[in-house]
Amino acid sequence: MGGMRDRSGMKSRYDLVAMGLHWLMALGILALIAIGLAMVHGGLPPGTMFRLFQLHKSIGITILLAALCRLAWRLAHRPPVFVGTMPRMERHLAALAHAVLYAAMILLPLSGWAVVSSSVYAIPTVLYGLIPWPDLPYLPHLANKQPVEDAFSALHSYGAYGFIALITLHVLAALRHQLILKDGVLERMLPQLGKKDR
Ligand code: HEM
Repeated sequence: MGGMRDRSGMKSRYDLVAMGLHWLMALGILALIAIGLAMVHGGLPPGTMFRLFQLHKSIGITILLAALCRLAWRLAHRPPVFVGTMPRMERHLAALAHAVLYAAMILLPLSGWAVVSSSVYAIPTVLYGLIPWPDLPYLPHLANKQPVEDAFSALHSYGAYGFIALITLHVLAALRHQLILKDGVLERMLPQLGKKDR
């Protein structure tokens, strides 16, 4: 799989692993945001809420593991260079946004994991009802867990709101490239269905 290259011989599209991780994680993250908001603000019956918490934790830990794989892949495989028409400032902003998105995909699930690890309820995490998942070290044994849980909970909530804002900007930027600039940036992250890689 050589991947498509532009005239200068540089890779001009993301590879299939990067695309697969991008779109699967996008789906998982949108589900996590919807479930997170529903379980905290939805006023749902306790049984439903409990199941949503378990699902949120399961998908969230999956996202953490996928993000670590994605970071490793990204560090080992150069992404395509920015399209030539992009001004310098926009390249810097895009690179910064992508770096913060990576950081959030790792730190946000860690903060959620810290909430459940310092929770006074000490509810075990069993991923998808099948795989027992440990708490973070140290936190479950604190003498006074409530203020620690409250702090991680605020961090997780505000972090999630910041993440939602950044994802919105990211989507708007992709749409601007696709609909206004028409410079083919979005297609670099889309598999060319039915077309053979050159
Ligand atoms: C990318 C990953 C994640 C995203 C985008 C995400 C998103 C959210 C959102 C939007 C909320 C509602 C916040 C509010 O309105 O106050 C929430 C709450 C929560 N999430 Fe996550 N979450 C992620 C990962 C995790 C993980 C891995 C865990 C635990 C293992 C977790 C545990 C919780 C808990 C316990 C709450 C309840 C509110 C709190 O006490 O902070 N989350 N999450």
